[in-house]
Amino acid sequence: MKALIIVYSYHHMNTEKVANAMAEVLEAEAMPPSSVDPIDIPGYDIIGFGSGIYSARFHDEMLDLSDKLVQVDDGKAFLFSTSAIMGKNKVANDHKAMREKLTSKGYSILDEFACKGYNTNSFLKYFGGMNRGRPNVEDLNNAREFALQIIEQIK
Ligand SMILES: Cc1cc2nc3c(=O)[nH]c(=O)nc-3n(C[C@H](O)[C@H](O)[C@H](O)COP(=O)(O)O)c2cc1C
Repeated sequence: MKALIIVYSYHHMNTEKVANAMAEVLEAEAMPPSSVDPIDIPGYDIIGFGSGIYSARFHDEMLDLSDKLVQVDDGKAFLFSTSAIMGKNKVANDHKAMREKLTSKGYSILDEFACKGYNTNSFLKYFGGMNRGRPNVEDLNNAREFALQIIEQIK
């Protein structure tokens, strides 16, 4: 199985921590969208797309990359994110634009993962921020467990 993880993370590198935990399990490389050549993507059996959530969506670099992907027949992908606020509908909405772009390129989204990430955006920096210490050990173990379930799905 050839897996790749593409991740955009800059605020506190929260999503990169999640990406690295998943990459370990999937024996995958984790790289930013700027290092990805869209031509190479169809060579992978599974691709994880991850991002911090900024203004209720994946980072523009991830959305732009998905626009550049080559159309595939039956691609397999999963999504993951970290954000300040969690909630089932909120995560589904935060992932929506990315999910729709990938689906339109011929990818099925096998599953989606999200956890809280430390946030000091805007005025929060004056109050010590939100979710300090997240993702924590438990979040990263959940990310590893999620990656194991992805492997089961593509066996
Ligand atoms: C510019 C900016 C915008 C953000 N917008 C949202 C948002 O709309 N919803 C949310 O839940 N969190 C939001 N956050 C919090 C981040 O999603 C959270 O801190 C995330 O873990 C950052 O990931 P990173 O460290 O991988 O970049 C925002 C953070 C920044 C810096």
